Amino acid sequence: MKIALLFILSYLLGSFPSGVIIGNVFYHKDIRDFGSGNIGTTNTFRVLGRPAGVVVLILDIFKGALGTYLPVLLGYPHNYLMLIAGIAAVIGHCYSIFLKFTGGKAVATSAGVLLAYNPQFFLIAITIFLIILLLSSMVSVSSIIGSVLVVLSSLFLKDLPFTILLLVLATFLIYRHRSNIARIKAGTESIVPFGLVHYL
Ligand code: G3P
Repeated sequence: MKIALLFILSYLLGSFPSGVIIGNVFYHKDIRDFGSGNIGTTNTFRVLGRPAGVVVLILDIFKGALGTYLPVLLGYPHNYLMLIAGIAAVIGHCYSIFLKFTGGKAVATSAGVLLAYNPQFFLIAITIFLIILLLSSMVSVSSIIGSVLVVLSSLFLKDLPFTILLLVLATFLIYRHRSNIARIKAGTESIVPFGLVHYL
């Protein structure tokens, strides 16, 4: 199969802007104009509430997983093709063709890549993410530190191509969180209502 075609198909899947569509169709709100301005799950929860947030989380994970699984569905079940397709889906989410090449911060869609490639490791990554979220009370901190710890944890799998993919995704994710990093430094990053910070 032509790798370029696979890349384009997976990129188009990742480009599907769940948060923007759910906001515009069901709430008549463009989430890019509210909260952090991001199109992802966190800002959807923040701006549109829990039901919309859950739907966008599921859709964004799903498109990352489906994009990564595309080679298998098309009859080319090679690990390296899945990794390439996974990166394409995440690029699609961050630079969506439907949003003039703007987009999200690579968190939920990357989780979808993990889900399709290695479901057990997906559960470990989610656990790491949730523990840091409870401790830090900030989704961005949890995403950034979590992505680094996920790369390190993957070393135990002894699957070098997968670790390289995770390293690429983590680098990309951190780059996409530049505005969050500035807010964390300034002490203005938003916190979740259930974090331990409320009990200190
Ligand atoms: O889902 C991305 C998250 O890490 C940060 O989102 O909206 O707070 O910038 P946000």
